Amino acid sequence: MDKETDTTNWFSAVNSPEYFRTIGYELIDLLARELQIANSPLSEQKAIEWKEPEQMLSHWSDDFSSEQVSDPVTLFKEILSHSINMNRRGNVGHQISAPHPLSVITSMLMAHLNNGMGVYEVGMTGNAMEKIIIEKLVNLFNLPLSATGFVTSGGSLGNLTALLTAKALYLNKSPNTPLDKLAILVSDEAHYSIERAFAIMGIPVQNLIKVPVNSTFQMRTELLEGYYADACNEGKTVFCIVGCSCSTSTGAFDDLTSIALFAKRHDIWFHVDAAHGGPVIFSDRYKYLLEGIEDADSIIMDFHKMMSVPSLSTAVIFAQGWHSSLTFSQNAKYLWQDQQREEWYNSGKRTFECTKPMTVIHVYTLLRVYGQEIFQRQIELQYDLAKSYAKHISQIGHLELLCQPQSNIVCFRYVEINADLNEVNKQIQLAVIKEGTFYIVGTTSNGDYYLRISLMNTRTTLDDLKMLTKIIIRRGRELVKR
Ligand SMILES: Cc1ncc(COP(=O)(O)O)c(C=O)c1O
Repeated sequence: MDKETDTTNWFSAVNSPEYFRTIGYELIDLLARELQIANSPLSEQKAIEWKEPEQMLSHWSDDFSSEQVSDPVTLFKEILSHSINMNRRGNVGHQISAPHPLSVITSMLMAHLNNGMGVYEVGMTGNAMEKIIIEKLVNLFNLPLSATGFVTSGGSLGNLTALLTAKALYLNKSPNTPLDKLAILVSDEAHYSIERAFAIMGIPVQNLIKVPVNSTFQMRTELLEGYYADACNEGKTVFCIVGCSCSTSTGAFDDLTSIALFAKRHDIWFHVDAAHGGPVIFSDRYKYLLEGIEDADSIIMDFHKMMSVPSLSTAVIFAQGWHSSLTFSQNAKYLWQDQQREEWYNSGKRTFECTKPMTVIHVYTLLRVYGQEIFQRQIELQYDLAKSYAKHISQIGHLELLCQPQSNIVCFRYVEINADLNEVNKQIQLAVIKEGTFYIVGTTSNGDYYLRISLMNTRTTLDDLKMLTKIIIRRGRELVKR
């Protein structure tokens, strides 16, 4: 057999539909069993099987150097058993969703199509779906008819994209402003991606003016005028203010109405980081938390957090749609012959990505199959659960809340007289993770360490969380006794 025929035959085995079907069905069976475990009682499952980094590296190094795999399903099993599984009900750590099973299926469809959406021809359906979903959000957020946007790869990139646009608009109007004079006002609790965006934009990080927060961790908007005046006196040009909806650490929603008024008064860009809290817009009971968002110049909202689709999928919306074309306008003649025209269907003209995955397929499908009820129910379930758990914490003794939860994020700590509370709570967190029924994280407020949970999984119940409380108190007592 000649080499070409041999290679052709070799690839026809690689591309075999029968092979795909066999392996695919086996994987689906495996994942369905995983879902069964996740739906079972807490006592029958673990959130995490903790391994030290070196131990994990050595496991996979051994695997990688062993003989070639003939059965990928064995490999899949290994990957599953050595990974944290977000669906397990004790997974209440970071703001990473337990994806709705249907969106795991759409991930496969997305991967199969592999439509790189930057150019219309390789994203015909995806670009149309994005326009429809963004228009739906524009409606829900009550933004002007001029608003448009797109989907991008994550909240960090979304924040960067919006801030780059604000900067580009400002420099278009005032081209002689030196970069090192540009400044932004933001809550002290803002996500680190804002600071990172600053570094990427080439603006000195000290020009990121952090406004203190009140006892409920919301930006102290009564201080804004003073901070603005100080910045002007120092020769800085404040071109943008960012509101948090909600903050990452404590889940606090800033007062967007006051921030919007301030932004209007000074004619500066108003960006809302609604990566985590944006989906409250689907709930009649909780959408009041976003009052004022209708006056934003730009908004980002992650679908992969509280809308439980696989990462990453983020909406970036601009009140004046044409602003979105300012950010990345450049020459790429091999992609788009007409550089000047705004064409919604060539989304790469406005996004950082060139080959952009069709992640909108997840939200589009969930809305088509379940309607917006799926997001409304999820928000209400998890925001209500956070409140119930906070009530339990304040009644149980030995535990202290950092603040009343405004979202699905609850921060609290174990308290004991004469104990080094920071050390004890760090040790509790570690002990909980190593025990494995729950995965929890921590946060620091004014130098004090708190345990932090994010309720992202629709399987987690109040009874599960009461079990977490028991484990924490038991661990706390053991640690203090030593
Ligand atoms: C408020 C906020 N903004 C932005 C981000 C960054 O989002 P991503 O992880 O999608 O980049 C996060 C992530 O937790 C967040 O909580």
